[in-house]
Amino acid sequence: MTRICIIGISGKLGQYMTQHALDRGFDVVGVCRPESVAKLDRFKGRIRLYPGRTDDASVVAQAVAGCDGVLTVLAPWGFTNYASGTARAVLHSAEPGARLIFSCGWHISKDGKDRYSLRQRFIYALFTFLGWATRMADISDQVRATKMIFGSDTDWTVVRGSDLKEGESEGLPVWAPYVGDPVLASNRTRRTDFALFMVHALTDDRLIHEAPAIVSRQSASARTHAMEEAVSVGE
Ligand SMILES: NC(=O)c1ccc[n+]([C@@H]2O[C@H](COP(=O)([O-])OP(=O)(O)OC[C@H]3O[C@@H](n4cnc5c(N)ncnc54)[C@H](OP(=O)(O)O)[C@@H]3O)[C@@H](O)[C@H]2O)c1
Repeated sequence: MTRICIIGISGKLGQYMTQHALDRGFDVVGVCRPESVAKLDRFKGRIRLYPGRTDDASVVAQAVAGCDGVLTVLAPWGFTNYASGTARAVLHSAEPGARLIFSCGWHISKDGKDRYSLRQRFIYALFTFLGWATRMADISDQVRATKMIFGSDTDWTVVRGSDLKEGESEGLPVWAPYVGDPVLASNRTRRTDFALFMVHALTDDRLIHEAPAIVSRQSASARTHAMEEAVSVGE
């Protein structure tokens, strides 16, 4: 892996991914809205930017050309099919064989086998309603975007973040294939570690065609799980 592209590079997640990718020695290019270019001033001279909306197919095509990996922030903003337009642009123009990593939340389900608590269902319904009522976010478009990804024959991974908090890294998060797994119960991850997992996924082929739901490795549920594993190995 040498050159990677970050689609939605100027957001919080995008900026963390940029730093992790540079730390790994990748050549980084990115796409962000023109009004957000200044947010990336601290990376000046170290990354190449293609200003444009992330659902602009021609801008995305220029940015992903020659990239071995693409990290895409799927954001459900507005009612213009922004997330599905972004996913479509990346799937159509990425290089054949490129690793494609997409971000979203636990509410996305690959095959309906996730087990959600009543509280999680309520929060999802509330956010969907509030997004619709204010016309600020179309959660169902993020669902459409990921359906398109799950049906694609590219080397995709859809990383599903838990509740995000700022703060120092707690290490590479642990993951489970399904929400409802006890290891995920703490439902918290540092945003920098979500980014770390996205960058890690570029070179972990075990994650191809997976939708890992992640949680901080320092969270209570992950630590309990690690202790149980150690005990069962020692038995
Ligand atoms: N927030 C959470 O607790 C949480 C939890 C689980 C998963 N996630 C997932 O994590 C990812 C990043 O989320 P985040 O909360 O950390 O946000 P973020 O990284 O700040 O990203 C938001 C993205 O949306 C863009 N954006 C913001 N307002 C927009 C608008 N009106 N129109 C078009 N684009 C707009 C931003 O671009 P600009 O820089 O141009 O504004 C940025 O690229 C998403 O995939 C989300 O589903 C978030």
